[in-house]
Amino acid sequence: MNWQHKDLCALADHTAQELMTILDTATAFKGVGERNLKKVPALRGKTLVNFFIEPSTRTRISFELAAMRLSADVVNISASASSLEKGETLLDTARNLEALRADLIVIRHKSAGSARFLADRLNASVINAGDGAHEHPTQGLLDAFTIREKLGHIEGVRVAIVGDILFSRVARSNIQLLTKLGAKVTLVGPPTLVPASFSPLGVEIAHSIDEVLEESDVINLLRIQHERQRKEYFPGVGEYSARFGLTKKRARRLKENCLIMHPGPMNRGVEIDSAVADGKGSVILDQVTNGLAVRVAVLYLCSGGAPMASSATDQ
Ligand code: NCD
Repeated sequence: MNWQHKDLCALADHTAQELMTILDTATAFKGVGERNLKKVPALRGKTLVNFFIEPSTRTRISFELAAMRLSADVVNISASASSLEKGETLLDTARNLEALRADLIVIRHKSAGSARFLADRLNASVINAGDGAHEHPTQGLLDAFTIREKLGHIEGVRVAIVGDILFSRVARSNIQLLTKLGAKVTLVGPPTLVPASFSPLGVEIAHSIDEVLEESDVINLLRIQHERQRKEYFPGVGEYSARFGLTKKRARRLKENCLIMHPGPMNRGVEIDSAVADGKGSVILDQVTNGLAVRVAVLYLCSGGAPMASSATDQ
């Protein structure tokens, strides 16, 4: 299967086969990351601009390292360091980056659709690193990659995504990818954050975490994104943890080999107990490691690299 796209803006735009191509190529690249000499020359002479107009630790550094693994040159810019502060439009800033011969632009922006907006107007490859509450494609891919790596397959796996679904681009990308690959997804949270309008996406909805503990193969916990919420969606953080937090007591009810996931940044003691985050079943740091392999694959494929086969057997 070939990857024919210069951009990655949303997992909703792509078929299951295309998305599997990314996962397989990432598996091949993960081996490179384990070697002493971690670099390959695939993007030598290319320039990647990391254009982050919202805070980020993991994602920005992961894209930067991914570009370095492929031997690209990397420039990082943030909102406060760009002329957006002086009233320049996003498109003008991006056109200027292209005039400076940026080949790839990785963008994180508060507005849904911002990555697609640029992708349609620029020759450079545009990779979405999170656009508002819309999508965060590489996070969805790294989550699926981690599930496949740890459980051996994705089809039929029961995944509970718990928390602030309404404002979560991570949840939307996970839903897109996991349902396409045949997983059974249940969204869990208070009705204010998990409205019934999500049902047409092919997911189940539950309003109590206790309903999904015994049956889940994966439990993915999300942070309450206070910065996006314009009103109170639940009485308070204490009540949220009591009703939806993965406490030690609840964690004991999980299946023996249930994976505990979190995209970070974690709020320890709110959506996840601190000991649970560091304990058995937690694959939170594996997700970070896998994010690098996934981003290497995405940069490589969007630059025209030939897909690589992996030894992964699933699907
Ligand atoms: C997430 C994001 O920014 O969408 N973090 C990440 O990229 N790993 C989730 C969050 O901010 O809660």
